[in-house]
Amino acid sequence: MKKHGVSSKESHKKPKDIGLIGRLMAKLPSSSPVFYPLYLAKQLYTVEEVYPSSQLPKEFNGLRIVFASDIHYGKLFGEERVRLLSKRINDLKADIVILGGDYGEHSDGAIRFFQLKPGFQANQMVLGVMGNHDRMYPEENFPLLLDAMRSDGVTPLVNDAVTIEREGKRLVIAATDDFFSGNPDLSYTAYRCRNADFVIYVSHIPDILPETYRMPGGPFYQLALCGHTHGGQVAIAGKAIKSSSGYGNRFLSGWYHENGVDIMVSNGVGTSSLPVRFGAKPQIHLITLRSTQSP
Ligand SMILES: [Fe+2]
Repeated sequence: MKKHGVSSKESHKKPKDIGLIGRLMAKLPSSSPVFYPLYLAKQLYTVEEVYPSSQLPKEFNGLRIVFASDIHYGKLFGEERVRLLSKRINDLKADIVILGGDYGEHSDGAIRFFQLKPGFQANQMVLGVMGNHDRMYPEENFPLLLDAMRSDGVTPLVNDAVTIEREGKRLVIAATDDFFSGNPDLSYTAYRCRNADFVIYVSHIPDILPETYRMPGGPFYQLALCGHTHGGQVAIAGKAIKSSSGYGNRFLSGWYHENGVDIMVSNGVGTSSLPVRFGAKPQIHLITLRSTQSP
């Protein structure tokens, strides 16, 4: 699959350590807004939104979904913050929790993250998709990561889909493998969504979405949930200083509507490279589905 804006060499390069500057910055005081970018990076905001859709069957009215992406457990996001994050999510008592990938800085870190047993809870299911950092080397780590996820009660969703049925109606949540570092299979994932009444497609990296626009029959989903961009992590006037997307600021942060589908791109929870944020608050999302179909 063509990976827009990223050569195959780039997409498979070894992950960088946070480096000396990152380590030094991580030691600076961050409990006061005086050091605002450091302070902001250690905050966590819960964005509560109602998502209305005329395509959603009324049987799923009120379904509560938590979406949390880009935790980046490691030197910049330690165990204490993992426990706080888990409590924040669990206190929301969602029906479904979806983890949007980039659990660590690389696959070893992602495995260690789930070995901490964060214990995410939901009324129905906790799902986890792959981020580009999670699929970074070695390949033998991939099954170990899937095992670590399952042992903490998280169902990995990789080129696969799960179905929730209510009174004969089917809501499907689907995810491909990571677009930059994994082996995404859009055709099979779309096939798994056949006969669905409503599909939520989760992709860590939003850059795959235009690929779905070009599929036969168009996108196989109505709502996409993405992360990866960190909202730019450092952004001024809605523009990233350095975008991690091949599409620049097209999918930077928040809600978009393209090609008949709704898209939500999260700023994510943690940080990458440096422990700073500006203009891109760290966030998790509580999305309540609302059917606008007449009763
Ligand atoms: Fe990330």
